[in-house]
Amino acid sequence: MKPDMQSASVKSPLDASKIDMTEAERLYLVNCGVCHGAKLDGNGPLWKGGDGPYPAAPKNFLADDMKAGWRKERCFIL
Ligand code: HEC
Repeated sequence: MKPDMQSASVKSPLDASKIDMTEAERLYLVNCGVCHGAKLDGNGPLWKGGDGPYPAAPKNFLADDMKAGWRKERCFIL
């Protein structure tokens, strides 16, 4: 089963209107931005366009497939 099909039956426990976005950004930059990039473009310092020490290209969160229908619930079932 595809992740998006599975996530259709999952409800996120998070209330999006109550999320502290400043803290969310801080957590992203600490835990994810090093690979996925501060600009979400998949080009953080560990990848650096292929010149960094990490051997695999991180997902570009600005890519069309990410913008199109990526439900937040999918994160709970990955
Ligand atoms: C050490 C580097 C690294 C870090 C740190 C990292 N990622 Fe990734 N991420 C990757 C790579 C590599 C991929 C695979 C890209 C692909 O398959 O196209 C990926 C893929 C993803 C995807 C796409 C999954 C899919 O099904 O297509 C998501 C979403 C994601 N990462 C979220 C995060 C989040 C959120 C964090 C922080 C909590 C994070 N990543 C931290 C390297 C990293």
